[in-house]
Amino acid sequence: LIEEIKGRQVLDSRGNPTVEATVTLSDGTVQSAIVPSGASTGAFEAVELRDNDDVYFGKSVYKAVKNINETLDHHLVGTSPYQQRLIDRMMCDLDGTENKKNLGANAILAVSIAVAKASASSLNLPLYRYLGGFNAHRLPYPMMNILNGGAHSDNNVDIQEFMIMPVGADSFRDGLRQCTEIYHTLKTLLKKDKLSTAVGDEGGFAPNLSGDEEALEYILKAIEEAGYNTDNTKLALDIASSEWYAEGMYNLPKRKISMTTENMIEYLDNLTEKYPIISIEDGLSEFDWSGWEELTGKLSHIQLVGDDLFVTNVNKLYNGIKVGAGNSILVKMNQIGTLTETFDAIELAHKAGYTTVISHRSGESEDTTIADIAVACNSGQIKTGAPCRSERTAKYNRLSRIEEELTGVATYGID
Ligand code: PGA
Ligand code: ZN
Repeated sequence: LIEEIKGRQVLDSRGNPTVEATVTLSDGTVQSAIVPSGASTGAFEAVELRDNDDVYFGKSVYKAVKNINETLDHHLVGTSPYQQRLIDRMMCDLDGTENKKNLGANAILAVSIAVAKASASSLNLPLYRYLGGFNAHRLPYPMMNILNGGAHSDNNVDIQEFMIMPVGADSFRDGLRQCTEIYHTLKTLLKKDKLSTAVGDEGGFAPNLSGDEEALEYILKAIEEAGYNTDNTKLALDIASSEWYAEGMYNLPKRKISMTTENMIEYLDNLTEKYPIISIEDGLSEFDWSGWEELTGKLSHIQLVGDDLFVTNVNKLYNGIKVGAGNSILVKMNQIGTLTETFDAIELAHKAGYTTVISHRSGESEDTTIADIAVACNSGQIKTGAPCRSERTAKYNRLSRIEEELTGVATYGID
């Protein structure tokens, strides 16, 4: 049984406060979980409760911590930790709002994950095995962000994330090595051209380039110079275009161009014609649903991932499936706020033939839960940044250990 739940404030990878929860079971098991935090957050995400007072520039989370130590501890102590669905439901009911603004999705999610970790540990099971059962066996393609533009860089690149996907590798281990070699080669190329190799929040480079296409050209060059080719290494983009959208137009902030939805679709179509791009995330805004339908009709051969569009929310995803918006969902636990709701979204996606991409946030921590989730649900794809910065490599390292445990039965990527 759950004996104690304790919350505390810790720091995330950007140096901002975030929530950690520690769950103690009556058998002596103790497990903790830390929740991540986004920067380019979707408008419909569950609420991350912050204090908005005069410490930590308003970003402290003492209220959320107090909600764990008082409300959640009080109501959940004595419950079986193996009733994850019931516990998550109880927390949602205690909060009582659609978007978890009373207790905070950060408070609720930290407890939700810590309960699952404690259950797994008390049963002596790895987390992916506890969450996914005997059939969890699929290691994900890394969708590795190596170059950045958008709101978090000072260059002229409008697209937020440029990612490489080692789809031709034989195993996760092999894919990780290929991506890492390409990342280091890119660094060498940028250095040679006297461009910045400082890294952004997710570990990617943010050199001062002239635009999106120059970024793509650099990556193609890095793939080639590292000894690989575009049959085996594909590209993925996160346009994060919700950031550009105002009054029905897409206003590219760096190059100061305004585009209609039609222009945007044409722009993305041209990029996929010219470059080996197999996946595009948030190609259109979270408010542009009719545009998404059109985009999906036109570029159905590309993986079209809804991040801000779906916010890991089954209702939003259901609407998307009904109208044919996108064919893939980005899965971020803290967009919705509990483990079971996250798994509900994954289950619905897979049932509908949508692919899933399990994802980190730009503000992360040493917590590696998403690595286990990717394997637990056989997602086949994970987005967890560059092979740089410990909060990113922690997830890759966890996956390396899982792959070792699954020797002989592990499969890799999506078919
Ligand atoms: P975020 O960015 O974590 O800052 O929201 C990641 C993304 O847009 O996928
Ligand atoms: Zn995104």
